[in-house]
Amino acid sequence: MRSVLITGAAGGIGTRLRKLMKGMYPEIRLSDRATPKDLKADETFVAADLADPAAVERLVEGIEGIVHLGGVSVEDAWEPILQSNIIGLYNLFEAARRKGVKRVVFASSNHAVGFYPRQRKIGIDEPVRPDSRYGVSKAFGEALGALYAHKHGLRVTSLRIGNVDDQPVDKRRLSIWLKPEDLVQLIRIGLEHPDIRCEIMYGVSDNERAWFDNGNAFRLGYRPAGRGEESREAALAAQAKLPLDPIGDWYQGGTFCSAEYDNPLEPRRD
Ligand SMILES: NC(=O)c1ccc[n+]([C@@H]2O[C@H](COP(=O)([O-])OP(=O)(O)OC[C@H]3O[C@@H](n4cnc5c(N)ncnc54)[C@H](O)[C@@H]3O)[C@@H](O)[C@H]2O)c1
Repeated sequence: MRSVLITGAAGGIGTRLRKLMKGMYPEIRLSDRATPKDLKADETFVAADLADPAAVERLVEGIEGIVHLGGVSVEDAWEPILQSNIIGLYNLFEAARRKGVKRVVFASSNHAVGFYPRQRKIGIDEPVRPDSRYGVSKAFGEALGALYAHKHGLRVTSLRIGNVDDQPVDKRRLSIWLKPEDLVQLIRIGLEHPDIRCEIMYGVSDNERAWFDNGNAFRLGYRPAGRGEESREAALAAQAKLPLDPIGDWYQGGTFCSAEYDNPLEPRRD
């Protein structure tokens, strides 16, 4: 892998990855529609709006691998999600196909499956259960990636990222926390592992309370270093200050599930 494009480079994860992945590949091209505030003289940055197909096609020229972080990263109105996460994602995969990009690592989310109850452990074979318009856009991204993998031979890895932070900050995050260095490990598997065709992996660290069977990532060599449980006391103390949320506390997706919730039926138990 000689040339890697990181989209969403001005965002929270992008800002971390710029430091953690520096020098890891001969060329790292950064992109976002916003210029990173702390851009260094030795970094290559190309501004592009994902919703602009011509700009995206220019952006991926000469690139072998894409780490696709760009897009709306929380729940939002339909229009911004449509532009960045649906149209923008299509533009990215289509440009990748046309320009001969070999691999894409797509930042999917636990919110693609957020409506599974916390008492259930899920793998990668259960149907998606998005908990928001945002979650639907991530399920769409996984499906689009699968199309380009199976039809065009792009090697695609969708990472269902839990929550990237220095440590888990509440009870839910004890289950879904992802140490930034572990994310780098998963990205490198997606960019480099010879067996990658079309993969889904959970972007979570070695958390005792994980709700996910991450066997596919382990099969491909993932050895997470982060242990969420080491932050148990602080996370549970922070949780104690939060209001009860009967729907959000029941489902894996948390407040993404309870927001706008008006289902008169009993919460799903399975
Ligand atoms: N932070 C997490 O813990 C987490 C968890 C699950 C999934 N993810 C996913 O990982 C990715 C990065 O997350 P983040 O926390 O850094 O998000 P972020 O919101 O901090 O960064 C996203 C970046 O994408 C850019 N962007 C949005 N729309 C764009 C467009 N149309 N064209 C070009 N750039 C555009 C924004 O300017 C922003 O800099 C997102 O796709 C998010 O959905 C993050």
